[in-house]
Amino acid sequence: MNMILEDRQQLAEKLKGFPTYYSNVLSSAHTSVVVCVTNQKQIVAACGIQKPFNYLVVYVQEGYRGQGLGTLAVKQAVNIARKSNLNFVNLAVSTENPSALRLYSKTGFLVTALFSRFKFKIMTLPLRFKGRIAYEFFSKVCSLLPEFILMNLVLFFMKVAKSIRQVSAVGFQDFLGAS
Ligand SMILES: CC(C)(COP(=O)(O)OP(=O)(O)OC[C@H]1O[C@@H](n2cnc3c(N)ncnc32)[C@H](O)[C@@H]1OP(=O)(O)O)[C@@H](O)C(=O)NCCC(=O)NCCS
Repeated sequence: MNMILEDRQQLAEKLKGFPTYYSNVLSSAHTSVVVCVTNQKQIVAACGIQKPFNYLVVYVQEGYRGQGLGTLAVKQAVNIARKSNLNFVNLAVSTENPSALRLYSKTGFLVTALFSRFKFKIMTLPLRFKGRIAYEFFSKVCSLLPEFILMNLVLFFMKVAKSIRQVSAVGFQDFLGAS
């Protein structure tokens, strides 16, 4: 069943079964892309890409995992991002989350930085030439810097992203349902 939701309020309602973090990011006013996979009654999987750094999150309801829904949602969100001319998509993933790591590597995400001490990776999917250049630059810089400096940089960029989100309502450009 395909489903088009009109606004974020409606989306927030539909994502009530999701953990708060995912539901907040996915229904955020600053999300540029959200893809939802639905069964007859509810959203069972969703993937969103949040501005300003094109940060991707994906969540599949327990009980629906391992059936390819996470992959489907990520691929659709990435397709929309590509059509929307985004240069790249980023994400952070725990090194102890094997299904997410598998999903991201098979959809083409590359490791930008590894934080072994904190057990997570930043991964990037370049979508255009500019994104590829940015990826090459940042992965090189990240490989040269000590982990604690990198971690502080990440925290700094997270604060920047939060401030940008507070001052600019980017809007909700795309919403696509998939069966
Ligand atoms: C991560 C998540 C989105 C994956 O969704 P999903 O619908 O189960 O994923 P898919 O079925 O599309 O694919 C998962 C892949 O991981 C593989 N996988 C599953 N468990 C695995 C494991 N323990 N070790 C290695 N690979 C594993 C699957 O075989 C599949 O790969 P394949 O297509 O090559 O067979 C889902 O587990 C989830 O929502 N987790 C909680 C939220 C989360 O962690 N989000 C990511 C934050 S970065």
